[in-house]
Amino acid sequence: MLEKEIYHTRHRLTGFLSSRNHTKASARNDGLFVSTIVITFGLFTPMAPIQNGRVLFNAVPEDYPVPGETTVYDTSETIDLENVSLNGGILVKVLVLSIDPYMRGRLREPGGEILHRMPPFVLGQPLASGGIGVVLRSEFPGVEAGAHVRGLLLHQEYMIAPNPAMLEVLERDTRLDWSIYIGAAGMPGETAFMGWREYSDAKKGEVAFITTGGGPVGAMAIQIAKQDGVKVIASAGSEEKVKFMKEIGADVAFNYKTTDVREVLAKEGPIDIYWDNVGGGYTRRGHGICQPAREECGQISGYNTGVKPMKNPMLIVAKSLHVHGFLVGSLRPKYAATFNSEVVSKLASGEFKYTEDVTHGLEKVGDVILAVLKGTNTGKAVVRVAIE
Ligand SMILES: NC(=O)c1ccc[n+]([C@@H]2O[C@H](COP(=O)([O-])OP(=O)(O)OC[C@H]3O[C@@H](n4cnc5c(N)ncnc54)[C@H](OP(=O)(O)O)[C@@H]3O)[C@@H](O)[C@H]2O)c1
Repeated sequence: MLEKEIYHTRHRLTGFLSSRNHTKASARNDGLFVSTIVITFGLFTPMAPIQNGRVLFNAVPEDYPVPGETTVYDTSETIDLENVSLNGGILVKVLVLSIDPYMRGRLREPGGEILHRMPPFVLGQPLASGGIGVVLRSEFPGVEAGAHVRGLLLHQEYMIAPNPAMLEVLERDTRLDWSIYIGAAGMPGETAFMGWREYSDAKKGEVAFITTGGGPVGAMAIQIAKQDGVKVIASAGSEEKVKFMKEIGADVAFNYKTTDVREVLAKEGPIDIYWDNVGGGYTRRGHGICQPAREECGQISGYNTGVKPMKNPMLIVAKSLHVHGFLVGSLRPKYAATFNSEVVSKLASGEFKYTEDVTHGLEKVGDVILAVLKGTNTGKAVVRVAIE
């Protein structure tokens, strides 16, 4: 990759020099030297240093984030790709970034670590999220230039990873784009697979209710549940997502914005497994009709305006509910190998389906965060920062 960049630089410089010589010659001939040399400089800009665009945490949102206010796109920094010090680390060109609901929890004042687990973003500093990049230079043993790395990446075009051991060197099945490795074949897919395997205790013929079924977590949960022979009731907030949920096997798929959740559950339940991604009123309804198992995967209805307290915890006693909250990171050591062999291969072969909502350009990050929190994303939200 760096060779390619250097090649282009050389090419540009060679073009610059030969063009300059030519210009001087023609200047001698026609007296247009000054104006022509200005144009030549404009066309053949030397490469280093170059702009390194970043997305900065600018202000704590009151409720929903405001693109351009709570996060801002900044172009004030430059980077010299060939000479910047790595101090034993690696230089990464960021290719794709995942935009996830949990990022809202990091747009906060310092504190609240117990509730959010991840520390807040630092005001004035770049955001970070799961991403994939290509290594341009490396001083770290075992990570070569040209390798692809996955992990928590900064929201900037180029970054130096001082501790590359935190990143995973990734090989790709060529049938899957890199972006899938931060979606269905990445953290959201893992969340569904690992959480389901660990806690659902699913048995053939049981009934599951899966919320946000059109997103990457819910869609994978639907497909894993169907593999286990479970009847799936799934909800989402648009007709497009309802259609997709039916395509991937949901037995009952409905739009919670136009259909009464209680009516659907009363007709199609009772439910044995409740996969809760939403919280709030949803949780109360699911609780009321749930039999033994319930998985608390997320509470997105409260991420911007505050998570509602559980209304009637006595139901847990009365119905002998098993309520499991979990974070995917804690299940990874146990299930990572099975996930790769059982899920990633099925995604590559087309047996498992996924949807993506890809936005091009780092400057759009703020809009995509808002889309995920408002539910206007149509699939796994990804920002493509650069093409290789
Ligand atoms: N426990 C873990 O380790 C873990 C890991 C990853 C994700 N999660 C959780 O899993 C859930 C889904 O994540 P994802 O990445 O798959 O998200 P996603 O589907 O890509 O995006 C979030 C979706 O949530 C829905 N939503 C937003 N506000 C809502 C509201 N007030 N009521 C109902 N639905 C609302 C929207 O879909 P609709 O069109 O359906 O409204 C939106 O598209 C989130 O709660 C997330 O925090 C947990």
